[in-house]
Amino acid sequence: MLFTPISFRTVTIRNRIMVSPMCQYSCEDGQATDWHLVHLGSRAVGGAGLVMAEATAVQARGRISARDLGIWDDAHVPGLRRIARFVGEQGAMPGIQLAHAGRKASVMVPWEGDGALTAAQGAWQVVGPSPTRFSSAHPVPEALTVREIAGVTTSFADAARRALAAGFAVVELHFAHGYLVHEFLSPLSNQRTDGYGGSFENRTRLAREIARAVRAVWPESLPLFVRISTTDWTNDGWDVEQSVELARGLKAEGVDLIDCSSGGNVHGAKLPIGPGYQTPNAERVRREAGIPTGAVGLITSAAQADHVLRTGQADMVVLARQFLRDPYWPLHAAAELRADAPWPNQYLRAKT
Ligand SMILES: Cc1cc2nc3c(=O)[nH]c(=O)nc-3n(C[C@H](O)[C@H](O)[C@H](O)COP(=O)(O)O)c2cc1C
Repeated sequence: MLFTPISFRTVTIRNRIMVSPMCQYSCEDGQATDWHLVHLGSRAVGGAGLVMAEATAVQARGRISARDLGIWDDAHVPGLRRIARFVGEQGAMPGIQLAHAGRKASVMVPWEGDGALTAAQGAWQVVGPSPTRFSSAHPVPEALTVREIAGVTTSFADAARRALAAGFAVVELHFAHGYLVHEFLSPLSNQRTDGYGGSFENRTRLAREIARAVRAVWPESLPLFVRISTTDWTNDGWDVEQSVELARGLKAEGVDLIDCSSGGNVHGAKLPIGPGYQTPNAERVRREAGIPTGAVGLITSAAQADHVLRTGQADMVVLARQFLRDPYWPLHAAAELRADAPWPNQYLRAKT
């Protein structure tokens, strides 16, 4: 099944393999570079069906680090267009993940150190639903006003418009991993008493408003994905039951696939990490909400990926670190499964 095409709206993806969005922390002022072209381009050459560009900030203060990719300005479009075009020319679908890091913004690039930026390093004021920080190493966020919340929604819609201008075929909204929208979803990070906090309806309002605003500008013909954390892995936080309910609401807003990740919002939470540890949640969302899902998390082998699809746990498999180890993973997986894979013409003499 791994090499069976899949269609969403008018877009047909050549196989079920998606390159998971992965921050490269390689920009200045949010501008895409040659690194992104080669990094994402190689995975398209390597046979992936959908190549999802990393978390791309819809507002400058929504960057995780100062080196994040950005889409908050029209000036970002040309650099992104070059990548989308190259990925598309290889027969892969170019996608982009739109993001706002909320209270987990303004931190160091991972390989340069741990924790929050200092003022001397260019720290900026981070924002969230409530003034509660993620950990003692993180800055205290300022609670967004209702007007600023509306501004976030507008920024996501503007970003989607720019993604279209850049030539992307799929947009994924990043509502996972303890970033801004996840912070609103979880009662552990959202202590608001207005229309955006308290009840399930209120905590999920921002997610639904963003999906609706993006759907209004993103063409009917193109797919819209959403990545969520299906659980906070705590007893009193966000959980799979709420994820199923949210997925139903997002489906009603015109979302086409839920990319099911987990965690990231509770510092020190214990995740039961192991092969395919998140795929049961993708299966539950798929079955109970009746919406296609993507399964992500320690999927590394061809047989395992095919099994996730064959057993109806998900409609696409989403691989991150395995693609860093092997940009040609789909070509190797096809050989292992004796399926036909899209080798580039330039490389055909190596296809045995
Ligand atoms: C270097 C790196 C950067 C990442 N950046 C993002 C990101 O931009 N957006 C996102 O949703 N997840 C991000 N993740 C998480 C991955 O997309 C994926 O969900 C996670 O690594 C689990 O999948 P894996 O076991 O296949 O690596 C990142 C992971 C890595 C290793």
